[in-house]
Amino acid sequence: MRHFQTFSAMILIVSLFLIFFYSTQLHQTANTLRVVSEKPPKQLELHVQDSDVKHPSTPEGFTTTDLNVHKFPISDELGQIIPQNGAYWNRLLFSTLRSLDDSENPFMNEHPWSVCRQENEDLLRINVHDFNSYPVLFKAFLQGMNCRSPPILISQPDRCGSGGKDGNSQTFLLFAIKSVPRNFEQRQAVRETWGREGVYQRGLRVRLVFLLGTSSENDPDLSKLLSYEAKLYKDVLQWDFQDTLLNLTLKMNMFLKWTVKHCPQVSFVFSGDDDVFVNTPALLTYLQSLDASKAFQLYVGHIISPASPLRDPKSKYYIPSSFYDGPYPPYAGGGGFLISGSLLQPLYLISRVIPFFPIDDVYIGMCTKALEVSPEAHKGFQTFDVKEQDRENVCVHKEHLLLHQRSPQHIKRMWKGINSPLLTC
Ligand SMILES: *[C@@H]1O[C@H](CO)[C@@H](O)[C@H](O)[C@H]1NC(C)=O
Repeated sequence: MRHFQTFSAMILIVSLFLIFFYSTQLHQTANTLRVVSEKPPKQLELHVQDSDVKHPSTPEGFTTTDLNVHKFPISDELGQIIPQNGAYWNRLLFSTLRSLDDSENPFMNEHPWSVCRQENEDLLRINVHDFNSYPVLFKAFLQGMNCRSPPILISQPDRCGSGGKDGNSQTFLLFAIKSVPRNFEQRQAVRETWGREGVYQRGLRVRLVFLLGTSSENDPDLSKLLSYEAKLYKDVLQWDFQDTLLNLTLKMNMFLKWTVKHCPQVSFVFSGDDDVFVNTPALLTYLQSLDASKAFQLYVGHIISPASPLRDPKSKYYIPSSFYDGPYPPYAGGGGFLISGSLLQPLYLISRVIPFFPIDDVYIGMCTKALEVSPEAHKGFQTFDVKEQDRENVCVHKEHLLLHQRSPQHIKRMWKGINSPLLTC
């Protein structure tokens, strides 16, 4: 009996302690939320209701009122650098911002994102006076601007590991590499060298995915080979849209959606091309050296600034002035840059407000601007390449984090070089 009384008393004390402990915790959470909402009030707030976004983890600046409703401020910085004028994209941006301002229930919640081709054509002819003079691919981009829900053909839902039982399976760095179906050799070179999956120094887990669309109807059918490759390596993601230059923003958006869903805990993402050379050990050392506040707001690479649209219709990156008129915000060159995992969800959500722009890295620059995340320049990222005479120099490869456009053979040679015990630099 005596024992029983002591036991009950202990239970009582433990319960009281737990009640006390949780109430302080709640109090603290309430304070954090208040601090967040006391940030300087921005005029605009985005409310996104989205069943795609299943993990309402609450990075700084977010408050989650309901499981699938995300509310966060949109900085007016983007509206300050982009002029309000008659160009189509500029008009779209400002009308969207106004609609956020006006209504309690902005159209974001209703936007179907499945306005493809035909539906959009009349709208474009009315709004873009010289639409007929645009290059064919540019017209195709405009027609698909609001066509954002291509089906996923090859997904790897377990790519990032369960994240559960063993802490090791948490992904520290995810390589998200833009490729196209026919680039088998480039992908293999990446797998065998800098993109190799595994646990690196100090238990940091690195994972790799390739992002692909589909080849055009005039190309040989590679779907069987691709599905074999995907089964073998489990690192191929593919969506049902044409893998063209002007669809890269769509590709980036699909990747954000996939990551928010299947890899929400990733610490950092390296987004880049399948033909670059990356010094993975140096990249990891750099990422580990960051202090916590920076690690959550990282957007680093070769920063292109000041930058503005190219107006030569023959250029790969031609932008007609009736489509976009104004400078570009500073952005990290798309050949390869790093971004914090905690920014992916905000980026995905803000992309609901910012109209698609045909150049993917410029688009990320616009979105980060709206999130008030500034790009940071790092001279280790050479997306425009080093001097001709340094291209075979192993020591130069060892010094940098990323080098521009390399053949698969060159990548293998240099990777062997920087990892050789004989190397003295
Ligand atoms: C993007 O992909 C869609 C779907 O396959 C296609 O209709 C469109 O023409 C592509 N856009 C460009 C600019 O290639």
